[in-house]
Amino acid sequence: MNKKFQKTLIILLTLVLAFPLTYLSGSNLSVFASGKNNINSTHGELSYSIKKSTKAKKKVVKKKKKSTKILTPKPTLAPTATPTPAPTPTPVPTDSIATAYSNYFALGVATPARLLNDATTRSVVVKQFRTITMENETKPDALLDYNTCSSNPSLYNTNPAVRLGSFENYLKIAKQYGLTLRFHTLVWHSQTPRWFFAENYSKDANAPLVKREIMLQRMENYIKQIMECAKKYPDVIYAWDVVNEAIEPADGLSNGLRTKSSLWYQVVGDDFVEKAFTFARKYSYDKAGLFYNDYSEYSANKLYYIYNMLKSLKDKGLIDGMGMQSHINMENPTIDQYEAAVLKYASLGLEINVTELDMHNNKNDSATLQLQADRYKALFQMLLKLKKSSSANITHVTFWGLRDSDSWLTWFNKETSYPLLFDASCNKKPAYDALMSLVQ
Ligand code: XIL
Repeated sequence: MNKKFQKTLIILLTLVLAFPLTYLSGSNLSVFASGKNNINSTHGELSYSIKKSTKAKKKVVKKKKKSTKILTPKPTLAPTATPTPAPTPTPVPTDSIATAYSNYFALGVATPARLLNDATTRSVVVKQFRTITMENETKPDALLDYNTCSSNPSLYNTNPAVRLGSFENYLKIAKQYGLTLRFHTLVWHSQTPRWFFAENYSKDANAPLVKREIMLQRMENYIKQIMECAKKYPDVIYAWDVVNEAIEPADGLSNGLRTKSSLWYQVVGDDFVEKAFTFARKYSYDKAGLFYNDYSEYSANKLYYIYNMLKSLKDKGLIDGMGMQSHINMENPTIDQYEAAVLKYASLGLEINVTELDMHNNKNDSATLQLQADRYKALFQMLLKLKKSSSANITHVTFWGLRDSDSWLTWFNKETSYPLLFDASCNKKPAYDALMSLVQ
């Protein structure tokens, strides 16, 4: 062998021996790195090492499986490891109070039709709330059709004409804007005209009232027509206020029924509430609940009679929920008193809806509005507590009005009232922010 040939041979041999060593050592590093990543690190780091080379990639994947098998400790083998607490879900920032509360209950608002026709107020309703109650438009005096009834009283004697087109309009509006509707209200002593109870649908103040049997047929057919109409819009109505405000302890009956101002009581008698729920059950068509609805529902006296009446209806399977109107003021009731009432109704196994919430307050200065915000907050804190602990099945909370300037309380109390979450210009009041602070 000459020297030149010897040199070439040595170089060739060195190359042949060194290549696999370099290759192996390189891949070993990759495997180590991948093994390390697999045990301690994130998928991000692992994919970073995988990207390095295709050859290495194959080995990484192969080894990764192996190391998972060998190195991943079974949970029982790591008794000393401190479990990482589950991360608290970050609340999604939202500018809608109904969205913020959607894990707990559906927030709604009572509104007259005109606020739904106006683009500005409608946009606030649609953004801030999930449900609506028509403030007056689905009450008997709005839906009963006097002209048609009186045009042929014998034809309509037991089957009163109803303005179903008008009712259907609200069902359509609710559906169009993705809202659901509380039907308020089928049977009520107020906003129900005397002519509905009179012979020949007469408006004469002295016209005789019909007999019980005729009135029961009028009641049944009124409920039937409304429910059959609503059936064409499945899932739009979420609750029916079947009977409103039937209890008035001051009237002196042992069952607490309102007598003096109630033509329902005077014409039908003691069982008019049960009859109304029986008909409503007969014609109801989906999961929308049947509710009794009343005010001062938290005061001991009224609660006693309402509770007894609901118990009897519940025992007969006729009722699903209690509507607590909740027209409160800055002092009454105490939060504890209100809580006790919720628990008492809930103990019957009834769904609870707050149906007409407002907080009368005749001052609009910032100190008073802050006090109002604190009280709204305390009320909702309690409602959330009962809901979270499953102590009461509270599913809906409805405010009785959008803006302070819309509130019925100014008329009712004969003094300007500032009871709601939005001021006259649709600005959020401190009460709105206080309620948001509980869920954000
Ligand atoms: C009120 C409306 O807000 C007013 O516009 C109307 O003049 C009278 O009725 N309890 C009820 C509601 O069940 O229907 C009432 O609504 C408020 C008290």
